Amino acid sequence: MTELTQNPTAGSAATDAGSGAKAAHPMWSSRLAFILAASGSAVGLGNIWKFPYITGENGGGAFVLVYLVCIALIGIPIMMAEVAIGRRGGRSPINSMRQLAQRDGRSKRWAWIGGMGMLSSYLILSFYSVIGGWALAYVGKSAGGLFVGATTEQIGAQFGALLADPYSLLLWHSVFMALVILIVARGVTSGMEKAINILMPLLFVLLLVMVGYALSTDRFADGLSFLFTPDFSKLSTEGVLTALGHAFFTLSLGMGVMMAYGSYLPKQVSIAKTAVTVSVVDTLVALLAGLAIFPIVFSSGLEPGAGPGLIFNTLPIAFGQIPGGVLFGTLFFVLLVVAAVTSAISLLEPVVEWFEEQKGYDRLRCTLIGGISIWALGILTILSLNEWSGVHPLGFIARFEGKTIFDLFDYATANLMMPLGGFFTALFLGWFMSKQAAENELSFGNPLAFKLFMFVLRFITPAAVLLVFVYNLI
Ligand code: TRP
Repeated sequence: MTELTQNPTAGSAATDAGSGAKAAHPMWSSRLAFILAASGSAVGLGNIWKFPYITGENGGGAFVLVYLVCIALIGIPIMMAEVAIGRRGGRSPINSMRQLAQRDGRSKRWAWIGGMGMLSSYLILSFYSVIGGWALAYVGKSAGGLFVGATTEQIGAQFGALLADPYSLLLWHSVFMALVILIVARGVTSGMEKAINILMPLLFVLLLVMVGYALSTDRFADGLSFLFTPDFSKLSTEGVLTALGHAFFTLSLGMGVMMAYGSYLPKQVSIAKTAVTVSVVDTLVALLAGLAIFPIVFSSGLEPGAGPGLIFNTLPIAFGQIPGGVLFGTLFFVLLVVAAVTSAISLLEPVVEWFEEQKGYDRLRCTLIGGISIWALGILTILSLNEWSGVHPLGFIARFEGKTIFDLFDYATANLMMPLGGFFTALFLGWFMSKQAAENELSFGNPLAFKLFMFVLRFITPAAVLLVFVYNLI
């Protein structure tokens, strides 16, 4: 990450011990700095926008349960594996993988994991930025008092109007992408890091306020039971795959982002504790978002399965009613934008790094090439929402019936590419990397804990991913 290259800190001395990292490789200043940066990447639209709507579409409790199991048995081990590989390799994901594979006498092709991750970043950011644009548009709507006293129908109509208008979508998508390009091009300064330190906790507090509002509706208990009472008859095998994919998406896994971050982690920091902390924070934010949204869904007579517009159709209802709603609403969407931007940065950064490594252009040029091409790709998502909503490129395959280009990008990345990337990451650390190196890197300090971890990573994690995959294919 850029801020590190610009602000090498005292930790650099701790780089080496068998990592082969470059001597001047900078380090996070502390465990907390890493946790904040990794949470900044993890907590984003995935938690507040995507989690509630896919939970709604997949029937609630059973989906949430499967998702939590995926986080615990698949997400956390893979995050630990990624961080460990990154720290041992000490370079960008592609090069870390290549180097470690060579060092342990394995094929250079392991670097392909990094390559696939790049492609996923590209696709994800193209639609992520469009949704970030929705959040930006809602900052304006909120500040302009458009939700005050509005009925559920009026709020729904406002969202419908936004989606139907490719030009406003393009405008907001452009503003969002420009913000991300600006930050990545200039390097993520320490000022930004400080801002995140304040804004992320604030987002958390504001979500609590929203849960407070949800408590005041007459349907809080229904929201609660929707989220936490599993009814497996409502969960399809496709839903299980969605839960698995979302575990990867929400923790920023399966594409080397955590490897990149791990390469800056000082040796003495415990990877296990850190990964668990980041995952718990991320999961809490998602659950809070769910707790805030579903009671409103039920008390306003909306459909939980309404799709990607869910939060934009529900939260404004609350902002329109509570005292100080204009302020709270504006603040909420600003914070949503901040959370989205910090995640988007972690999606653009690897692309830019790769261009720098491959082409040797300067940073600004690489950021512009990466950013503008992703921006252009985003236009496909915009059109999927209106002009091309009837275009279903893979509609001849039953599974993809009715899926727009946007849906396909989302599906391909979350449900295929990220789990595959994670699968191979688990295999690499579990089976192919030297066991001694893994033990040193993870330094549980307790041989039993290491054995248990390796067992999960070698057998449970890959088997679970494979199982969900195979189950879905047949
Ligand atoms: N985790 C982010 C979210 O939940 C999205 C994201 C950012 C991401 N960086 C990533 C997903 C890298 C996968 C890989 O919104």
